[in-house]
Amino acid sequence: QDDLLVLGIETSCDDTAAAVVRSNGEILSQVISSQADLLARYGGVAPKMAEEAHSQVIDQVVQEALDKANLSERDLSAIAVTIGPGLGLCLRVGVRKARKIAGRFNLPIVGVHHMEAHTLVARLTEKDLQFPFMALLISGGHNLLILACDLGHYIQLGTTIDDAIGEAYDKTAKWLGLDMRRSGGPAIEELAQEGDAKSFKFATPMKQHKDCNFSYAGLKTQVRLAIESRNINAAIPISSASIQDRSSRADIAASFQRVAVLHLEERCERAIEWALKIEPSVKYLVVSGGVASNQYVRSQLDQVVKKNGLHLVCPPPSLCTDNGVMVAWTGIEHYRMGRFDPPPPADEPEDFM
Ligand code: KG4
Ligand code: ZN
Repeated sequence: QDDLLVLGIETSCDDTAAAVVRSNGEILSQVISSQADLLARYGGVAPKMAEEAHSQVIDQVVQEALDKANLSERDLSAIAVTIGPGLGLCLRVGVRKARKIAGRFNLPIVGVHHMEAHTLVARLTEKDLQFPFMALLISGGHNLLILACDLGHYIQLGTTIDDAIGEAYDKTAKWLGLDMRRSGGPAIEELAQEGDAKSFKFATPMKQHKDCNFSYAGLKTQVRLAIESRNINAAIPISSASIQDRSSRADIAASFQRVAVLHLEERCERAIEWALKIEPSVKYLVVSGGVASNQYVRSQLDQVVKKNGLHLVCPPPSLCTDNGVMVAWTGIEHYRMGRFDPPPPADEPEDFM
């Protein structure tokens, strides 16, 4: 029971990922196949197309994860797979694959919640991270502040009332004509370094709401209006823009990023106050999810956390964006507590679900 080997499979959005992790936290392999090209061509995730892309690579991704770990399915203790939240069609590709292997090799299955995986992966990288702790989860689809009281016991302190911060990064990047072959976040982060963050005075969202919720729709609108006011044409890629045009784009990127992150800072500050009233022993704030790979986000939140006497825990960028390791690790955490499903029948028809 104490030396487990778990295969994790993640297909909830646009990446097909698999990894093998040992219960001591050792990552034996990690494989990701990204649909970045599809995303760039269509400007977003189309569920049907994403499903097809997952189906095309899932066998190969899982095989590669096993090969790199020098293991066969027989060596595994269990299979962990993301069961939600996410695009139903896409999730199903991962779950089918997991059940097929589990049925054939008589392995238990652990169904994993995608956001719990983003949270718990911090316990793999930071061995001192004990419950209770706080987590800010920031990605393309989610903006969550939680108090993790214990495994499987989470209190939601705040969530977005409209868009997530990653979605705002991605739209801003698209409107600024940035290279979308990778996601918008890193492109904005890079361009913002050239810009003046004070040049556009965007309003910080939800100032009058004294809670821990988020809103990014209004900031998106402010950014769109600023882009229109400078006559920036997204059809002209930034690489072909004039020097002046490029500098306006950089100013907008920097001003957007400053306010987008200031909103996170303000909400975290209040959430820490709330959390300490519920669980005075909280010492850590985990920041995870794709946007947590942003260096500016990390350094700003580090200041807020320190000022309030806590420590910041940020998994490395490769474990912040969607990956198989976080799913395998969450599987290990649950398996250890006896929370798993028995192996499916070996002859389960593939299209039963
Ligand atoms: O967690 P994730 O890989 O997928 C979801 O579950 O959504 O997060 C993807 C999001 C995208 O919106 C992407 O633009 C954003 O994370 N992102 C970043 C950075 N890297 C990824 N946002 C800002 N700065 C970054 N460096
Ligand atoms: Zn995610």
